[in-house]
Amino acid sequence: MRVVSTQKSQILAIGIAKSLGLDFVPTIYSRFPDGEHYLKTGRLDGETIVVGSLTDSDSLVQLLLLLDACEGSECTLVLPYMGYARQDKRFNEGEPISARAIAGALGRMACRVITVHVHEPKILVHFRVDATNVSLGREIGSCLASRGLENPIILAPDGGAVGLARSIGSEGGWETDHLIKTRLSGTEVKIAPKELDVKSREVVIVDDIISTGGTIVQAAMMLREQGASSIHAICVHGVFASNAYSQLKEAGISEILASDTIESGLSKYTAAEGIARAIEGC
Ligand code: R5P
Repeated sequence: MRVVSTQKSQILAIGIAKSLGLDFVPTIYSRFPDGEHYLKTGRLDGETIVVGSLTDSDSLVQLLLLLDACEGSECTLVLPYMGYARQDKRFNEGEPISARAIAGALGRMACRVITVHVHEPKILVHFRVDATNVSLGREIGSCLASRGLENPIILAPDGGAVGLARSIGSEGGWETDHLIKTRLSGTEVKIAPKELDVKSREVVIVDDIISTGGTIVQAAMMLREQGASSIHAICVHGVFASNAYSQLKEAGISEILASDTIESGLSKYTAAEGIARAIEGC
């Protein structure tokens, strides 16, 4: 069994290969003169683990090409970050169910799929092959424990992140709470006022994705008003669209941490062991 990856997921893929004691097979990525993607991977045997986060259209094309290059091998597709998963239903007439379209296209080319904190686990059925969603509560708990925070409160900014906040809280024996968020548009959110027990305390806001940063910024404003001594943000998927990072710093977030499902300078913990456990079936 060997591991291959798309261009932007190489660090995580090598980490997964190491965790499993497998070889990582390098791939050459380039483009044709008209801009089309080209790739060439090495020799593969019976089973292949294909790792690639879906962060943009280029990564989707590379994933399709890589899966095709692995024809004849039994493929486990690891999608550490599954973009397009947030359009998991038809919100308005005429819209696609993007998560279904993407899962259908990729699932046809793999025997098994592994996702990490996919936005809505219900969409896994659209892969039409065995699909497992990995949770990184343990990894986030250890990452936070290493920051030396004192009696922090772990805060979910919306109902969707409550499960994650609770699993992190139970890892470290930390108190958890949550807010109620309404999304007004792709870039705007409103958070309902709520009195929290945060006066002079360190608060960690936890979310599956930080995209525009709007959710964390709104939550941070409320926490500041209520006297939190410091505010930290940790997510699984650090999308950091547009000027999200500077917005978060401007809002006074002391530390912003993410995993390597989307590799960046803010990737401070790895999803590799969690994914390796899922591949091994434990
Ligand atoms: C939404 O339900 C997700 O869990 C995140 O809260 C959301 O994607 C964050 O987006 P943004 O950073 O743009 O507020």
